Amino acid sequence: MEKILIYGGKKLSGEVNISSAKNSILPIIAASILCDKECVIENAPMLEDVFVICEILRILNSNIKIDEENKRIVIDNSNLTLAEPSTELVRKMRASFLIMGPMVARFGKFKISLPGGCNIGTRPIDLHLKGLAALGVDINIEHGYVEANTSKLKGSNIYLDFPSVGATENIIMASIFAEGETIIENAAEEPEIVDLAKFLNSMGANVIGAGTDKIRIIGVKELKGTVHKPIYDRVEAGTFMVAAAITRSKIKINNVNHEHVKPIIAKLTEMNVDIHTMGDSIIVDGNRDLKPVDIKTMPYPGFPTDMQAQMMALLCTVNGTSIITETMYENRFMHTPELKRMGAKIKLDGRSAVIEGVQKLTGAEVKTTDLRAGAALILAGLAAEGCTKIGDIYHIDRGYVNIENKFKSIGGNINRIEE
Ligand code: UD1
Repeated sequence: MEKILIYGGKKLSGEVNISSAKNSILPIIAASILCDKECVIENAPMLEDVFVICEILRILNSNIKIDEENKRIVIDNSNLTLAEPSTELVRKMRASFLIMGPMVARFGKFKISLPGGCNIGTRPIDLHLKGLAALGVDINIEHGYVEANTSKLKGSNIYLDFPSVGATENIIMASIFAEGETIIENAAEEPEIVDLAKFLNSMGANVIGAGTDKIRIIGVKELKGTVHKPIYDRVEAGTFMVAAAITRSKIKINNVNHEHVKPIIAKLTEMNVDIHTMGDSIIVDGNRDLKPVDIKTMPYPGFPTDMQAQMMALLCTVNGTSIITETMYENRFMHTPELKRMGAKIKLDGRSAVIEGVQKLTGAEVKTTDLRAGAALILAGLAAEGCTKIGDIYHIDRGYVNIENKFKSIGGNINRIEE
């Protein structure tokens, strides 16, 4: 079994390049289902989740070529057919369910197992299903499968009870060929939604208002092929920003859209981390006297839940009391017991965590419970005294490209070992 071994306490320095966003490319690959011409994705992040969604599309008879060396994915969906991806494959990630919207748009029906993904909460799909139903889709859930059928998709007005990222994406994709106009209100405003709309519009779709809470989709007859480069990964960028802070180091992070990481810049600045932006780069200097802060996770442009675990690791090393409130998921503190093994002082109370900064974290043997929890443990390991051994790192490989090599390139003593 592979593990990550870190000898912590070393300063980091130098530059690191951020990859394209996992949460952008997954819906984009799903959206390629809508098109029977070739779609090319440039600068694709070579991640486990990307391989999983490609595998799912292959089962649907998609011809997908992944060129790892040139980070290019070429998708030809001209011979796509209806098929049933195995439950085992679908349950590997929640984003599998993103193929429901485009499959129904293309074939009028689809059956897929209920999704899985990180174990951070119940994560229902009711909003996806309500949206599809409003477009004229009959939904039937039986024996762990969702079956969707429609004779005709018709534009509709949809109000989301909560601005769900996945539901917004699924509804956008389902409505691309729907007759008339679809309006999604209280839509998610994440940059990945804007990227999806950009991809779809470059194929000839008519999606207006992505990035705001009201998105209009005017149905079109067909889409043409396209070449697209997804946005940079704001969570990976944020993880490296926290790496500078937790090791009290100064590093330069390239391939960052400052606008997308604004909530992270704001929190780190409040902590007294020194941050300078320069074109597509950002220089983060954490070699300062850092202050505790309170954080509440919120939909974009609020503080991202996908950065909560990493910030918790950082706050464990900052003198004083910090409080983190997780409003997005009910079970996203599973990294807490692992951080405690490293000497952290954290008390959980429902959806809040009270963190008392300690003088130093100490290396320990820990386990990754989900993707971002894994990132948090790497960050804690880089700051901790002594050796940290992290197990179950397949969670980390779902969403970070070559994480140990990237940290090594900026001076981290971190290695992947077989045990
Ligand atoms: C996406 C991201 C994930 C991130 C999350 C929130 C991808 C592939 N993943 O996940 O990394 O943590 O946004 O920023 O883009 N909900 C419902 N009913 C639904 C759908 C969602 O109650 O039908 C709830 C969820 O249980 C959760 C909250 O809404 O509590 C947010 O979920 P959502 O925005 O849908 O996240 P994902 O699209 O799954």
